[in-house]
Amino acid sequence: MFTILWLGMSYVVGAIPFGLLLTKMRGLPDPRKHGSRNMGATNVARVCGTGCGVATLLLDMLKGFFPVAVAVSFSNSWFFITLTALAVLLGHMYSVFLSGKGGKGAATTVGLYLGLAFWPTFLGLLVCLTVIKLGGFVSLGSLTLVTLMPILLLLTGMYNFLPLSLLVMILVYARHKDNIQRLAKGEEQPWRCCA
Ligand code: G3P
Repeated sequence: MFTILWLGMSYVVGAIPFGLLLTKMRGLPDPRKHGSRNMGATNVARVCGTGCGVATLLLDMLKGFFPVAVAVSFSNSWFFITLTALAVLLGHMYSVFLSGKGGKGAATTVGLYLGLAFWPTFLGLLVCLTVIKLGGFVSLGSLTLVTLMPILLLLTGMYNFLPLSLLVMILVYARHKDNIQRLAKGEEQPWRCCA
């Protein structure tokens, strides 16, 4: 019973659409109607300004971080921790508050990985930020991070979390389908581009 309640709570936390709440509270444009039409930090920054984008990034990361960090602190079960991480991410991507719609999951993924494996994620983030800096595309950085994480978890002996990291990779790749097509065609928008 506790497990079901905990996973439900994790899903609901993940489902809070911080990017939309922040922009609405400040009377800014709806990011779902402009730019890449995503509600994530990159598009909120693109459409509503860097400050709002950074706030969205932090809040979306925190909502991924806390349920996983708390689960790690009281449970030794890799399966329970995996389910918690998936519940938060699925909440973000398929939000009950947005009729099943949601974001691409990049910031929430960073948060849940920081709660699960701080140093491997820190290393992955350094590579991700380098890719963003050199290429100019946040989507490419996000895809790099989720691709690297299974390898980094394996290298640090966290074999039990390989299924989680592969599922996270599949989910984030699926949500970035349009970005991948635009990247392939050379049509992807840099984060600073206002559409
Ligand atoms: O936060 C998602 C990021 O990886 C891509 O965002 O708005 O450029 O599609 P966007």
